[in-house]
This record gives sequence, structure tokens and C-alpha cells, in this order.
Amino acid sequence: MTKSSSITPQEKRLTFSFPKELDPLRIPEHIAVIMDGNGRWAKAKGLPRAMGHTAGVDALKTTLKLCSNWGVGALTVYAFSTENWSRPGEEVGFLMTLFKRVLKRELESLKLQKVRISFLGDLEKLSSELQDLILEATTLTAKNTGINFNVCTNYGGRRELVKAAQRLALRSVNGEIDPALIDENVFAAELSTANEVDPDLLIRTSGERRISNFLLWQLAYSEIYITETLWPDFDENALIKALLDYQSRCRRFGGLKHVSKDKRNLEI
Ligand code: FPP
Repeated sequence: MTKSSSITPQEKRLTFSFPKELDPLRIPEHIAVIMDGNGRWAKAKGLPRAMGHTAGVDALKTTLKLCSNWGVGALTVYAFSTENWSRPGEEVGFLMTLFKRVLKRELESLKLQKVRISFLGDLEKLSSELQDLILEATTLTAKNTGINFNVCTNYGGRRELVKAAQRLALRSVNGEIDPALIDENVFAAELSTANEVDPDLLIRTSGERRISNFLLWQLAYSEIYITETLWPDFDENALIKALLDYQSRCRRFGGLKHVSKDKRNLEI
């Protein structure tokens, strides 16, 4: 084993530059975000809802950059749920066009930032043009070594669980797997997040107190942070506040004692 491979993510983060308020040893490895409040942000400013989504892209770019700079391993965002198709056709159309425009425009920057982008959800329902762009972006960034950026698009937690169950049932029927051997690890490996650790922190903006069918399995032990800030206003200060709140939490995972991610480094 080389020396560098024994460096923990926490130790690696000591080499990044951090806002002084934050403890580099307690940066979440995986952050999930429900980006909510774009419509209300636009309405409050007398603008069309679409402008809220456009402003939301800027907030997303800021958050991705900061997470990447601060050594967060993965950022998973809820961009479009399986339920969002029920919005007016005009808004759905705008969002789909926005996804295409942003993907085209930001691909070079994602490559430069070493971001590895993935799309989670039922992508077959998206237009072939968007699917092609997704394929291009995921292929061209697949070997990047920076943050994993997961964009949940036409994603629903229940649908993801049902699909995983179907795949395991099929493998059982085909004699490929013994049903008695299906445990939590086997099940989690069937999910779209199979390559990620579960989110340490879920951030939801705009004050709503719901999970909204997002990462139902993966959020089992995530710390939940809800802020009244509307997504387009979510900036560096807002992210620092969320991280400070996370760093104040005692994570027990159902036990009685705080469980640190890296027992070598943390004394809490
Ligand atoms: C929720 O706010 C937001 C969405 C449904 C869309 C989020 C999408 C983006 C921020 C763009 C992301 C772009 C890429 C390329 C990943 P809302 O419309 O439900 O707001 P409201 O609750 O105030 O009406």
C-alpha cells in the first residue's frame, strides 16, 4: 500500500483552504440537497417561475464549487422528480431545455474542476437529445477524480426501490441469487447510488419539512438540515451555516454514543 492511499478523506481535507468557522475534520463525505423554492423566489420578485429555475442553476454551481473545494466526496441534488411531470407543460419544457443548455455550457468547466457527473433516475423518459448530452457528459467525466456530482432527474425514491426489488426477484427466479442471501448490502448495490456512501447530510431549502420521495433508502441515518432560505439565495454563507449545524450534531446511528467517521482523528 502506498503512503498516499492510507490518507483518510478527513486528513486530505486538511490540505484544502477552509472558512475558519468550519472543522475540516468534520466535513460530510456526501451531501444531498432538495433544491426547493425557485418558484417562490421568482414570485417574490415579480418574475416568471422560469427565472427562479435559472437563478437556481447559479446557486447549484456555487454549491458544487464550494463542496468540491472543501473536499466533499459527493453532492447529490434533486433536479426533477417523477412527480414533477405533473407541472404545467410549459414549465416542464423550460426545465428540460434548461438541463440541456446548462449541460452543454458547463461541460468544459466540470471537466476542469475534475467533477464526475452522473444522472440518477429513469432517464429513458427524457428526450433523446437530453439523453445524448447526459451520455456525453457522464462518459467524458467518468475518469475524473474530484467530487461525484449526482443529478437526480426523473428520479423517485419509491420507483428506485421497486426497480431494485424487481431486479433481485428476477435474479432469484433465474437461480442467480439465493433469496435468503439478500441482505442490506446486496439490496443497496441495486440502487442508483451503489457507488456512494449514504448521505451524511440532507439540506432542504425553502422551509418545507418533507423528504418528497428523495433517496428514501439512503437517507435512513442522514442528518437533516432545513433552512427557510429559498434555493436561488443559497450561497456560501448558507452552506457554511448548514455545515456548522451538521458539525454540531451528535451522530449515534441508533446507538448511545457518537459514532465518528474516522475514529483515528476525532475526539468528540
Ligand atoms: C424546486 O423549486 C426546483 C425544481 C423542481 C427544479 C430544480 C432545478 C434546478 C435548480 C436546475 C438544475 C439544473 C441542472 C442542469 C442540474 P420549485 O419550483 O418547486 O419552487 P416552489 O416550491 O417555490 O414553487
